[in-house]
Amino acid sequence: MALITFSSPEYKDKTVYAVAGSFTETVLKIAKTNKIPIQFSCGDGECGTCVVKVTQLGDKAPMGYHLEEKEKTVLLELGKITKSEMEDMIVNDLPSKWRLACQFIPRDEDVLVEY
Ligand code: FES
Repeated sequence: MALITFSSPEYKDKTVYAVAGSFTETVLKIAKTNKIPIQFSCGDGECGTCVVKVTQLGDKAPMGYHLEEKEKTVLLELGKITKSEMEDMIVNDLPSKWRLACQFIPRDEDVLVEY
């Protein structure tokens, strides 16, 4: 089960912890369920409005993520990830520190999601 800690500098007193057990729900859906105000627009990995910073917590080995092409494209366009960082993540199966909340489905790990 994943423990997700949501945090925002605008809502410092409202750090929220949410557990995701289904492995099918996106971070955006979990945020909506828990009334966490992550900004979003398209909900489909196209606009980049929902970009969040993801930090692995705890001492489990970080899990790599398969990023869909449209998420890679948006993260590159936003300048959140460089081409060489992207190649390094793909070659070494590393997680991305930036994700689109509408595309990110957390797995069995604990993460901090900053929005
Ligand atoms: Fe548009 Fe996530 S809401 S990319």
